[in-house]
Order: sequence, then structure tokens, then C-alpha cells
Amino acid sequence: MAHSEAETPKIVHKVFTFEEGKKRRRETLSVSIPEVLDPQYGMYVWPCAAVLAQYVWTNRKQLKDKTVLEIGAGVSLPGVVAALCGAKVILSDNAQTPMCLENCRRSCDANGLGGVAVVGLTWGEVSPDLVLLPALDVILGSDVFYDPQEFESVIVTIAFLLRKNPRAQFWTTYQERSADWSIEVLLHRWKLSCVEVELETFDADKAELAGSSLPGKHSIQMMIITRKTDGVGPAGAQDQEVGRAGAQDQEVGRAGAQDQEVGRAGAQDQEVGHAGAQDQEVERAGAQDQEVERAGAQDQEVGLIGTRMET
Ligand SMILES: C[S@@+](CC[C@H](N)C(=O)[O-])C[C@H]1O[C@@H](n2cnc3c(N)ncnc32)[C@H](O)[C@@H]1O
Repeated sequence: MAHSEAETPKIVHKVFTFEEGKKRRRETLSVSIPEVLDPQYGMYVWPCAAVLAQYVWTNRKQLKDKTVLEIGAGVSLPGVVAALCGAKVILSDNAQTPMCLENCRRSCDANGLGGVAVVGLTWGEVSPDLVLLPALDVILGSDVFYDPQEFESVIVTIAFLLRKNPRAQFWTTYQERSADWSIEVLLHRWKLSCVEVELETFDADKAELAGSSLPGKHSIQMMIITRKTDGVGPAGAQDQEVGRAGAQDQEVGRAGAQDQEVGRAGAQDQEVGHAGAQDQEVERAGAQDQEVERAGAQDQEVGLIGTRMET
């Protein structure tokens, strides 16, 4: 819904102050996020965003000079924190909702971030803007698993990006809303691995983060999704530690071969191009069944996700 001039949205700025260390060695970062007082999704900072931003802050050293994409960014708190910590950030939201892209731009302006690109990326669609993204190190997604009907579209987009950027990681937080929700099957289908990151490892096991009232009483979980390698375990298993506090110096690493992958976009598009292509995936049942046989290892991995996402 577009706002006419007569109904200019009311904007309030919410300040988040991230801190680490004690006394003279204390590092702080203040971020101002303009929120639009409108019931539409994406117009304000969701509880998940405070947790993901805390994770970004805790791991800021490894993000310096890395290329980071945020999907479903809304008012973009995690992406803005990454940019202020020295990452090259691209913010994205649904290409079909320009108002959400406006939220991203407004958050950049409020924090003096002139160099942050904002692009429309709709989950599950392979658009020119998606294909033409630069090589990525980290993808951020806060509260993007909130509608089960969109789960596969999100996963399809992530699978596409991780295929192009095999050593990249998807850092994502979700709110436990329903015991019936699961992404386990989708992870198998799209050959992705997942590890849960305990909130206490990055000082996020609190109701009030960065001086805000978020995440409050909401139950938020954090996970890292990577590409599964052929056979044994998750892609870049060595990189999983990257996510933990204290492992900040590890490199997330960028595959040099990413550009080559762009040339294969045609093939990728067939496979990843749209969520509606899910039925085609049934043909891959053989391959998937093989994976299920590896259930021992995988269940340990996937079970951690809480592939039960509860309210
Ligand atoms: C629950 S909000 C979370 C916003 C923000 N990440 C946060 O945590 O504060 C979900 C976000 O996903 C975006 N979104 C919804 N459907 C989408 C789609 N199909 N493609 C891309 N983005 C979408 C919305 O515009 C919104 O910004």
C-alpha cells in the first residue's frame, strides 16, 4: 500500500548501542534505525534482527572488507551494523514492494552510509539483479522464515547464492512460532547443511540487546546454513567455527571460482530458478534417499536447527 503525501508515514528513530569489552578497551557502536509506524511487515525492527545484529557485531572483525548481502532486510539493522563495521554491504528486500526498499535506503541515510547498494530480490526468483550480484562472503537473513509458504522460496534463493559462492555462509535468525514448521526436508532437497549457534556464545541470551527492548520474551534461534559438500558433512565444516564468539579471526573466505559460476546461470536457473520448480525435485528422489541413508550424521545437524520452529 503506497502512502499519499497527505498520509506521510510517521517515522521514529530507534537507537541500538552495541558494546564489547571493559573500561578503556570498550568498543561501542550506535546505530539509528528509522521505523515506520505502520502495521505492514518490514517497517520496524523485528526481534530476530536484534539477535542477528548482535551476532554481526560479535563477529565484526571477520566481516571487515567482506561482501555481505542481507535478504528480506526491512529496516536492515544487521546489514547496517555490518556496513558500519567495515563490510561491503548490499541490502535487499522484495522487488515487488518498493516501500520495503525505501526502508533499506532510509536506514542507510540515517547512519551516513552512502555506499550501500539496495536491490530488489524476491525469494525464489532468479532475476538479473540476483544473477549479477558480486561474489559474496556472508548472507544475512533476519526473520525470513516466518511464513511456511515462503520457506522453499527462501531456501531456493540461498541455494542459488551458495552454489555461486560455495564458501559463503548464510547467517539467519528465526522466531519460534509453530511446532509444525520445519525446513529439514528443504535442506536435504537443496543439499544444504545447518548448524545452530547457541545464543550465549555471542552474548545474545538476553531479553534486552544493544540497549533496546528486543528481543523481549520472544524465543529466537540462530543458525548458519552452508552448502553441503559431496558426501561428508557440511560445506566448509572448518568454517562453522567462524560463527562462534571468539573465532572472529577466522576467514569466511571467498571462492575464487565464483565468477565462473555466473556463466552457468542457465543451468542454475533451471534448477534453482523458481520455487514452483519444487515438483521437478521429486525426480531427484533417488539422490535424496541416498542422503536420508546418511541420516545419522544429518539428523544431528538438522535436528539442531530446531527444524521445529515454535511460537
Ligand atoms: C518479518 S520481516 C523481517 C524484516 C527484517 N529482516 C527484520 O528482522 O527486522 C520479513 C521481511 O521479508 C520481506 N519479504 C517478504 N516476502 C518476501 C519475498 N517474497 N521476497 C523478498 N523479501 C520478502 C519483507 O518485505 C520484510 O522486510
